[in-house]
Amino acid sequence: MWGRLFHFTADAVLISAVLAGIKRNSGLQPATSQIENEDVRKYVNKYLDIGEWVVDSSVVFMNNSAYFERKK
Ligand SMILES: *[C@@H]1O[C@H](CO)[C@@H](O)[C@H](O)[C@H]1NC(C)=O
Repeated sequence: MWGRLFHFTADAVLISAVLAGIKRNSGLQPATSQIENEDVRKYVNKYLDIGEWVVDSSVVFMNNSAYFERKK
């Protein structure tokens, strides 16, 4: 039960992070403005914010890590 919940959460965060990464790269993002239900839209935006946060944190972490370098 908890294992499954953990996997579901991990997958959801990963997908959110990938979407945030694509947004950084191409400016493309899910068309949340087309969601008519205001509550749903709010939650989808919150979900996408998690991905942004994950990407930001990863960038800070990698920036401070010796295992990553900027391509010249
Ligand atoms: C990466 O680290 C350097 C030095 O600590 C800092 O000046 C720079 O703003 C950081 N860049 C990012 C994208 O966090």
